Amino acid sequence: MKVLVTGAGGLLGREVVTHLRESGHTVRAHDRTAPDPATADEVAGGDLLDPTRLTGLLDGVDAVVHAAALPSPEAAPHDEVFGNNVRAAYLVLDAAGRAGVRRAVNISSLSALGLAFSAHDASPRFVPVTEDHPYVGDDVYGLSKYVSETIAATTARRYGGTVVSLRFPFLGTGERLRAHLAAVHRDPGFDRGSLWGWLDTRDAARAIGAALTAPVEGHPVINVAAPDTTALEPTAELLRRYHPTARVDTPLDGFAVPFALARSRELLGFTPRYTWRP
Ligand SMILES: NC(=O)c1ccc[n+]([C@@H]2O[C@H](COP(=O)([O-])OP(=O)(O)OC[C@H]3O[C@@H](n4cnc5c(N)ncnc54)[C@H](O)[C@@H]3O)[C@@H](O)[C@H]2O)c1
Repeated sequence: MKVLVTGAGGLLGREVVTHLRESGHTVRAHDRTAPDPATADEVAGGDLLDPTRLTGLLDGVDAVVHAAALPSPEAAPHDEVFGNNVRAAYLVLDAAGRAGVRRAVNISSLSALGLAFSAHDASPRFVPVTEDHPYVGDDVYGLSKYVSETIAATTARRYGGTVVSLRFPFLGTGERLRAHLAAVHRDPGFDRGSLWGWLDTRDAARAIGAALTAPVEGHPVINVAAPDTTALEPTAELLRRYHPTARVDTPLDGFAVPFALARSRELLGFTPRYTWRP
């Protein structure tokens, strides 16, 4: 299938383009500045906030992976993070719906719960955190991802296609992952907001590939994370120390990540390949 990937020049987008091409898809890679033509079958560039630049972008496309975003509250002034992420999600997903594209993958984040960047050290109400956990956010990035999921649900209903929102934790591989793990190992409190979740960027690309063809409809929201944490301490101990008010619905053995992952297994048939533990 021919897949438009937005944010294709970014950390995740680059892995997605590589993985989709290796899986036999044809990729049109888009970013603010068009990616290197050697990296994709077709490339395109421009600001997604400019609707005139979307003309033609969806021609002949079977599916869209929308990964473009400013990926943290500190990536730009707050109104820009909100405005960029929400407007880009609306314009891309709405244009895909109007163009008759039947499948889109909206790259969301576990930050859409509002925990990861909370200024008030929010805690989950319960663990493992399912996709139905209420939004408890107070930060602009989490808000932008939360609203983008609502946009995804709205466009799925409006045009009748399927839009899958994948909620990812911290993504990294190589040096970026090593630096993150080192920070958590120095101080596990560093990762309290993200509940010590992580996923190798290459596994994230595989999950996105699976979401393009999974037999799902409407707007499924799916947690996708490695089954273990970033931490050296057992999860039950971390939760007692940093989130004592969280209700424990299912005991978390060993280093189990406190996010529910049944949907990613059952709906996507996805299990991560990469681990940082020896
Ligand atoms: N990095 C993480 O740990 C992480 C975790 C969970 C979810 N995510 C999500 O994954 C996606 C990709 O994040 P990333 O880490 O690869 O970020 P990144 O900054 O490396 O890449 C994002 C890309 O989107 C492009 N982009 C942003 N706004 C645009 C616009 N208006 N027009 C055109 N292009 C635009 C940027 O130029 C950039 O190349 C984002 O949706 C992010 O919210 C990232």
